Amino acid sequence: MRILVAGGAGYIGSHTCKTLAQAGHEPVVYDNLSLGHAESVKWGPLVVGDLADQALLEATLREFQIEAVVHFAAKSCVGESMQEPMPYFINNSVGTTRLLDAMLRCGVSRIVFSSTCAVYGVPDFVPIEETCPTRPINPYGETKLAIEKMLHWLGVLHGLRWISLRYFNAAGADPAGELGEEHDPETHLIPLVLRAAAPGTARLQVFGTDYPTPDGTAIRDYIHVTDLADAHVMALAALSADPVNDCFNLGTGQGTSVMEVLATVAAVTGWPVRHETVARRPGDIPILVAKTDKTAQHFGWRPRRSSIQTIVQDTWNWECRAARAGLRP
Ligand SMILES: NC(=O)c1ccc[n+]([C@@H]2O[C@H](COP(=O)([O-])OP(=O)(O)OC[C@H]3O[C@@H](n4cnc5c(N)ncnc54)[C@H](O)[C@@H]3O)[C@@H](O)[C@H]2O)c1
Repeated sequence: MRILVAGGAGYIGSHTCKTLAQAGHEPVVYDNLSLGHAESVKWGPLVVGDLADQALLEATLREFQIEAVVHFAAKSCVGESMQEPMPYFINNSVGTTRLLDAMLRCGVSRIVFSSTCAVYGVPDFVPIEETCPTRPINPYGETKLAIEKMLHWLGVLHGLRWISLRYFNAAGADPAGELGEEHDPETHLIPLVLRAAAPGTARLQVFGTDYPTPDGTAIRDYIHVTDLADAHVMALAALSADPVNDCFNLGTGQGTSVMEVLATVAAVTGWPVRHETVARRPGDIPILVAKTDKTAQHFGWRPRRSSIQTIVQDTWNWECRAARAGLRP
């Protein structure tokens, strides 16, 4: 299939383009390069454009005879969304409205959407099932939930076929070393811990050691980016076979604490991570771990590279390449 990959110059989008191409699809990236990188687009054409530009979206869908969309394009920093919510509402929710309208006008009826565990807010219990209440505690999560509701209604009223994948914590890098995580600023724990492990860098701050967890630090469900990419290919296949129209968790079901990440980084790099413990960050949730049975049942998907050791090793390999290329100190 010819697939429009909105946000395909970004971290998860670029890895997914590689997997799509390996599965025989033709990815066409649509990205405004606000956060992504043109050099990460290696498996098909890049159209530089914004979600807000509906005319360009429609022209792109028609020119490339697009059959389905995978939609990663978003601003996704939780803290930033609490400081400045309006760019999140405009970019994520309004932007996606433009994309969906363009799809309907061009007769493109299938979409896989990047959602997040942030739609759940503070869960009543873990592991979190898709049936748990959705009560976002920040504007970022709220934008994703709003989009899921749009997808629902467009499915009911216009026959849109959609799957929303609610990722937990994406991490890792392409095992072949062609791609990795390049956010600026980086806010994700594993690259930050790896950078803090290197000699001569600032101490890592560990936020909160008094959570109700075995070592007192927050627990997250880390999922390797190539496992996420596989799930998108499977979701597209499922959409082609059947109108699934539903939300699915993408995690491993295994939680890893901040201190366990630090210990794994020390084991992989050989350097202990110099760190200091500080107070909890407001809004951080103690434990976020997915229940993934529904995803496994529907798509036959299982994570393959998502042990914390493999995630850290692949990220470390990417960080070393980036340092050699002069992108890091
Ligand atoms: N990284 C994670 O752990 C994680 C977890 C849950 C959900 N998600 C979601 O997955 C998606 C991808 O995340 P990522 O980490 O790869 O992010 P990213 O920032 O690396 O990639 C997003 C891409 O979208 C592009 N983009 C943003 N707004 C755009 C617009 N208006 N028009 C065109 N392009 C635009 C950016 O330039 C970038 O290339 C996002 O939707 C994010 O909310 C990510």
